[in-house]
Amino acid sequence: MAKKFFIETLGCAMNVRDSEHMMAELVIKEGYEEASSASEADLIIINTCSVREKPVNKLFSEIGQFAKIKKPEAKIGVCGCTASHLGEEIIKRAPVVDFVLGARNVSKIRDVLNRPKAVEVDIEYDESRYAFGELRTSLYKAYINISIGCDKQCSFCIVPHTRGEEISIPAELIVKEAVKAAKSGAKEIFLLGQNVNNYGRRFSGEHPKMGFTQLLREVSEIEGVERIRFTSPHPLHMDDEFLEEFAKNPKICKSMHMPLQSGSTKILKAMKRGYSKEWFLERAAKLREMVPDLSISTDIIVGFPGESDEDFEDTMEVLESVRFEQVFSFKYSPRPLTPAKDYDNQVPQDVASERLARLQARHNEMLDEMKSDRLGRVYEVYFEELKPGGMVAGRTDNNWLVQAKGSEELLGKIVPVEIVETSRLGSVGRVVA
Ligand code: SAH
Ligand code: F3S
Repeated sequence: MAKKFFIETLGCAMNVRDSEHMMAELVIKEGYEEASSASEADLIIINTCSVREKPVNKLFSEIGQFAKIKKPEAKIGVCGCTASHLGEEIIKRAPVVDFVLGARNVSKIRDVLNRPKAVEVDIEYDESRYAFGELRTSLYKAYINISIGCDKQCSFCIVPHTRGEEISIPAELIVKEAVKAAKSGAKEIFLLGQNVNNYGRRFSGEHPKMGFTQLLREVSEIEGVERIRFTSPHPLHMDDEFLEEFAKNPKICKSMHMPLQSGSTKILKAMKRGYSKEWFLERAAKLREMVPDLSISTDIIVGFPGESDEDFEDTMEVLESVRFEQVFSFKYSPRPLTPAKDYDNQVPQDVASERLARLQARHNEMLDEMKSDRLGRVYEVYFEELKPGGMVAGRTDNNWLVQAKGSEELLGKIVPVEIVETSRLGSVGRVVA
């Protein structure tokens, strides 16, 4: 009987793709099958995130839970950013763990399987040309990495210390993967990197000069590709050429992630983000002007060291002005290896909590105002998933979730849908024949 694996994936889209890569290696090259639960698996993998402290603290209790329910011979592997960061300490604290495999080392999954207590966490390891087996968890959307690591060194962020320096993946490999995915029916290509619009700064080995805007053009010329999304771009690298391509290329979905982090220029400086409040507002306004029906999402951190009431008001002002369709907001979490954890003006927890609650409450009000604009309008929805109750779910070009009555035959199709009901989380629509 084939061996079975179970993977739990936490964190960002990069981790989702890393898990797909590991699955491909296990299935195609080692003959594994996916288990329907951890208790029937021969191999349990936790693909971790270390961006904030809470999930890291939870890791050890989670390992304990898996240890309790696993088959006696089953192996447990800890992968991803916490693996990179804690390395062999994980096995010391939880001896039940069989191997530790860092982000940017996932191509070594087959190697660590058979090496007891292996720890592979080299953040300088170059995976940018590694040919992973081909396996995708979605038929309709293909995640494709365009770079590994991040060069930015934002002062709050642990990622550069877990994923290492930024290396771009050769464009010809990206295009080849996109062609393959499109041929197998994926109309949507989702380009991934920690800092996608910095693409092309550094390749490993010789490579002709190439930037993100050019890469977008090349991917959009592939037959069968109808939608292109990407995450995450950095506001600093949103130059005119990029904005123009974004606006005029009909295959690029009109939803932009603009991670603000803070609306205060003083705090942005302390965060080492490289842009000011004014730059951010100007870029967002320009985008809104160029692109009708654009949706903008963002990440915001409240309670960064030194954030005064006025600094927080700056963030609230940007929130009012840009009217983000989606906000991922977090309380600042001090992370090891980052300079900000040693700044001496840390904000008290209760102040940060209050600010977060205020920001989220105001954004919810704004969403309530925005959602009614959608009612009665018709959007092109790409259906990707069956839902209970005879519903199918998909996304509009500008990334709103829409459900409609329907069945398998809508999957993988882009169809006009009239919005009949909206809530903060998504809309319900009616397929327009
Ligand atoms: N370039 C990546 C950033 C990864 S971290 C991307 O945009 O996906 C994702 C988000 O987590 C960041 O944008 C930031 O808002 C948040 N974050 C990172 N470090 C944090 C910290 N120390 N405390 C709180 N939030 C943090
Ligand atoms: Fe982190 Fe900043 Fe890079 S948020 S991933 S260091 S762009």
